[in-house]
Order: sequence, then structure tokens, then C-alpha cells
Amino acid sequence: MPDTRAENFTPALGKHWLTPFYDLAVALTTRERAWRNALINLVAPEPDEHIVDIGCGTATLDIAALQKEPLAQLTGVDPDSNVLAIAARKTAQAGVTVKFIEDYGDALASHLPRNGVDKVFSGLMLHHVPTRTKLSIFKSAFTVLKPGGMIFIADFGEQKSWLAKALFKTIQTLDGFDTTQPNAEGILPVLLQDAGFAQVREVKIFFTPVGTISLYSAQKSPGHNRRSKYEQYGTTFQP
Ligand SMILES: C[S@@+](CC[C@H](N)C(=O)[O-])C[C@H]1O[C@@H](n2cnc3c(N)ncnc32)[C@H](O)[C@@H]1O
Repeated sequence: MPDTRAENFTPALGKHWLTPFYDLAVALTTRERAWRNALINLVAPEPDEHIVDIGCGTATLDIAALQKEPLAQLTGVDPDSNVLAIAARKTAQAGVTVKFIEDYGDALASHLPRNGVDKVFSGLMLHHVPTRTKLSIFKSAFTVLKPGGMIFIADFGEQKSWLAKALFKTIQTLDGFDTTQPNAEGILPVLLQDAGFAQVREVKIFFTPVGTISLYSAQKSPGHNRRSKYEQYGTTFQP
């Protein structure tokens, strides 16, 4: 039976034949050192923490996370077998181990324990997917995160100035307007809250030649699984 799921994602650079050029394109166009370092500093990996990278692509962020903390446990999730082949080569060359899962970001609970993951992060992936998928990916991350666990996102966020909006048109032309325009209008923090996350913050904004990249953080509330003392009266309200 043909694998129709293969048609359900946008590859790293919009077209499959461009995937081998992805790392070079990101390096040349996005000031990647600035936003990647800031994202990994925010993730602040600790020994033995289980950290999941959604839409890991060529695993640049996983390698950086493991270079910062070699004892962290990294899992990279991506539906594209071609990009995961590049990721496997790069991690082997870097001498680090990442567990790769070939699947979509909204299927985390079929591979990972519920309430079992310490941190989730994602870089430049959410502008590739429709709004309903952005939300289901956030819900999927919420399900696998431990109470108190954090999510960190680096992606094209709200394009606040006319210049940022104009520059972002290059990405929109490459990756499609349907999935990128909601990002440009600032949907990501709203969807994080819709998925149940608290403490949603836009931590930093990076101006790049192709629009602004925002860094967001949010938390699954530490008391999420605590039983309410008012449950006996028929409410789940958590004071
Ligand atoms: C622009 S690349 C970003 C790669 C990497 N995170 C980075 O920082 O360079 C976007 C990646 O998201 C993946 N992707 C697309 N749709 C996805 C989905 N629904 N779930 C998870 N990953 C997805 C693509 O295959 C691609 O590898």
C-alpha cells in the first residue's frame, strides 16, 4: 500500500530535492548562531533529563544540546526519512547519540511515556504546519511532559514591523502562506495557552534577513496532575 503520510509534511526547505542544502541555507539566511545558542541556553539541558526535539530536521539543535550537556537524553522526532538520514550522519560525525523517531510531532504519545519527558523544544518547524496541526503538536507535547516540564519554541513569530513583514515574504513564498501567515500574526503563544500551557512568554526576538524569529517558553503547570481537594464536591478546580 502506498505511504500517503509521506505527502503530509513540508520538507525542511519546501521541496525534497532542496533538503541537502538546508543547513547551508539556514546558516546563510537566519543568523542561526544567535537564535540556536539562545534556544539551547534557554533549554539548559541537565544530566539525565529526557528532552524531545520536535521537527528535529538535520539535528543541529540536538548536537548543540548534547555538546552543552553530554549526559542529557535527546529524542529527535521528524516525519522525513531523508532529513533523518542526514541527522544520523551528522550525529555520528559529532560523536553524540540521539534517538530518532520517524513520525509527526502530534504523535508523541504513541512513542513516549505520558508525563515522562522533562523538556520539549522545537526550531523552525511550526511555520511548516497548518494551525490545527500546530495546536495538536502542542497538545501532544503537553501530554508527554511531566507536570512542571517546559516547552521552548524558536520559530518565525509575530512580524511586528512593516520591514519584518516584507522580509518574511521570502519564507512565505518558499513554505506557503497558509501555514506561515498565522505565525506572522502571532498565533503561537495563543495556541500554547489553548493547549494548556501556563507562563507563556515571548522571551526574545531575533531580526534576520528573512523576518523575525521569536523564542517562546511555556510550562505545564507543576500541579497539573494533583487531585483537587475540592474533587469530592464535583469540581476539578485547582486553587
Ligand atoms: C525547517 S526544518 C527545521 C529543522 C530543525 N529543527 C532545525 O532547527 O534546523 C522543519 C522540519 O520540520 C519537519 N516537519 C514538518 N512537518 C512536521 C510535523 N508535522 N511534525 C514534525 N516535524 C515536521 C520537516 O520534516 C523538517 O525537517
